[in-house]
Amino acid sequence: MTTPTVTITDNATGKTSECPVLVPTYGPRVIDTKNLYKDLGMFTHDPGFMTTSACRSSITFLDGDEGKLFHRGYPIEQLAEHSSYLEVCYLLLYGELPTKTQFEEFEYQVKFRSNVHERVNHMYSGYMYDAHPMSIMVGVMGALSSYYHEALDLNDPVDRDLTAKRVIAKMPTLAAQCYKYAIGHPFVYPNNSLGYVENFLNMMFSHPMNTYTPDPVAVRALEVMLILHADHEQNASTSTVRLAGSAGANPFACMAAGMVTLWGPAHGGANEAVLHMLNEIKTPENIPQFIARAKDQNDTFRLMGFGHRVYKNFDPRSRVIRKVCHDLLEHMPANVNARVFDIALKLEELALKDEYFIERKLYPNVDFYSGIILKALGIPESMFTVMFGLGRAVGWIAQWLEMMQDPDFRIGRPRQLYVGSRQREYVPIGQRG
Ligand code: SDX
Repeated sequence: MTTPTVTITDNATGKTSECPVLVPTYGPRVIDTKNLYKDLGMFTHDPGFMTTSACRSSITFLDGDEGKLFHRGYPIEQLAEHSSYLEVCYLLLYGELPTKTQFEEFEYQVKFRSNVHERVNHMYSGYMYDAHPMSIMVGVMGALSSYYHEALDLNDPVDRDLTAKRVIAKMPTLAAQCYKYAIGHPFVYPNNSLGYVENFLNMMFSHPMNTYTPDPVAVRALEVMLILHADHEQNASTSTVRLAGSAGANPFACMAAGMVTLWGPAHGGANEAVLHMLNEIKTPENIPQFIARAKDQNDTFRLMGFGHRVYKNFDPRSRVIRKVCHDLLEHMPANVNARVFDIALKLEELALKDEYFIERKLYPNVDFYSGIILKALGIPESMFTVMFGLGRAVGWIAQWLEMMQDPDFRIGRPRQLYVGSRQREYVPIGQRG
């Protein structure tokens, strides 16, 4: 069967480039333009990579028009209902759901690596007492590479797999340490008799002066949250991880690069910004003025938690999260004022009826409700993006692993449209006007 192609013609010269068309399992076909510069002496131009495929991947697929999300072919709704975060980690890393034996071995491998070197514990004291936890996570994540020199041969699949398990195992410990440092409480060591999520909640909320028993409803709510944040194709932070990895940076440095990108309010920082916004709205009666501001092209205010580069329908994750939110608030209303959830529901209702949002296909995304769940679990707003990173770490490392094994692997180096000055001669300062 001949390879389908498209012909791109430069009408100025009549030259053509025969570009192969790559056919996906799902999603739009892709024009392979790697010979375009050789054939036509031209680049493509796509700021923000709106329609650019950067890599082949078999991990995750989003259907933005249908509002669907699959991990290795499994719909996110089914994984959220039936799976566990560690099982989803296995699926993302190895491509198949584990057998019982495979899962038990993987769970042991992760649990066994959940602690960090004692010297990591001393890193935190270099941060201001009120440092944003993301500024700490960025630092300690990158520093982990200094503890594992013996297993950072990027060309060794055994080292790469070991690093993936270390990242998954240590993220909860680092995240909980960030929180404990921020509130001046002693760090709590991992307890390997607990499950992955229970262990995290125990490291977050137990204290030498009290006993802490994770609430099963809270554990399941957080488990679903982590599953929903695990991976999401080539989003900004994952693309950063891939770009850093393409230069041969060690995987812990790549994770830190992902964490840096996630911190942006347009990306993973949105969940924290949503809570700030809902608190600023204060009452449902104030919603119309905020919607008006979001529509005002002269106002930089945007409805945080709304819109998405890919989803032009409901983000399937926000549907799942909305239900978890509702169930959790019924079960443990203490930590968050139900008013915030009521405002979120009313804001969603009014925005989805507004022509501006309908026309631009702006729907609630994963960040719109996630902050309310985290707040209900007793996790402070400053930790929301850390929690996003806790869930997404497996997606970053799975995409990094896939890239390291990709036959098309090469350093990422985009080109540009140069619009600056033409060549000119240097003028000594005494002769300048
Ligand atoms: C995540 O990529 C991923 O997969 C990300 C993520 C993941 O799991 O990794 O899903 C996680 O980052 C979710 C997004 C969280 N961010 C927010 O909730 C912040 C608020 N949203 C916006 O900043 C925005 O919607 C983005 C950044 C999410 C998407 O930006 P795009 O695709 O570049 O869209 P755009 O800025 O070109 O907007 C198109 C139009 C514009 O209006 P016009 O110029 O056409 O008149 O929609 C408007 C925008 O002004 N618009 C909004 C809006 N989002 C877009 N107007 C008001 N409020 C908003 N939230």
